[in-house]
Amino acid sequence: MQATPPALIEADGLCLSYAIGARAVPVLRGVDLRIAAGSSVAIAGPSGSGKSSLLLLLAGLERPAAGRIRFAGTDLATLDADGLADLRRDRIGIVFQSFHLLPSLSALDNAALPLQMAGAAGAREAAAAMLARVGLQDRRHHRPSQLSGGEQQRVAIARALVHRPQLLLADEPTGNLDDHTAQAVRDLLFGLNQELGTTLILVTHDLEFAARCDRVLRLHDGQLHETPPVRQPGARDALPA
Ligand SMILES: Nc1ncnc2c1ncn2[C@@H]1O[C@H](COP(=O)(O)OP(=O)(O)OP(=O)(O)O)[C@@H](O)[C@H]1O
Ligand SMILES: [Mg+2]
Repeated sequence: MQATPPALIEADGLCLSYAIGARAVPVLRGVDLRIAAGSSVAIAGPSGSGKSSLLLLLAGLERPAAGRIRFAGTDLATLDADGLADLRRDRIGIVFQSFHLLPSLSALDNAALPLQMAGAAGAREAAAAMLARVGLQDRRHHRPSQLSGGEQQRVAIARALVHRPQLLLADEPTGNLDDHTAQAVRDLLFGLNQELGTTLILVTHDLEFAARCDRVLRLHDGQLHETPPVRQPGARDALPA
């Protein structure tokens, strides 16, 4: 009998609402999730269905109104703000939908930040190498305002990967990229998935990405549903909106 691989992230009954005036508008209504260490998962779903909100919960950047999230067996509810920050610094890389680069820092210093915060030696060298892997070696001294949207996105990807996280949470990481650059980013992420066992959780509408992931989940009406894997890059109808 094959052993079940250990879960890196498990969530049970996650609920999240946002307050709009006096009203609580529910976004997630009981999300259950189990993601094996070393696997790759695409999350699809319509705009406004709560994909980015779910990533924020998994990163410990928002607290659920109900339900539980465990990272490698640790219940996130047992960690205070410092504990969650340590977890992210050491083990999680995040590519935000709107990048969240620091405007006053160069691409290089933005990408070096996670290693610098961890006090690691060689932070700028590692950041330069990761920027080169996303094709930005010539742009490393530019600030975010001097970079295009796709270049900023690639700086965000380099920053999320520079400390070789166990888990990458990426929100539409190829959303602003042309086909050629998107292919390079896909190859980089799946290369790290293969080489280092980096677990990938990707919010994406990119069919090529979904086709390469082990699983595709769809968020709809506040719940996550497993969908059949997308195996044919040409199967344009296979990935739900
Ligand atoms: N900080 C907030 N305050 C109030 N409502 C919010 C907040 N953040 C998100 N929402 C609402 O929660 C819902 C889910 O938002 P979320 O950004 O998670 O969706 P999404 O699936 O990532 O959408 P998209 O595909 O457009 O990025 C939306 O209706 C949004 O308006
Ligand atoms: Mg979003």
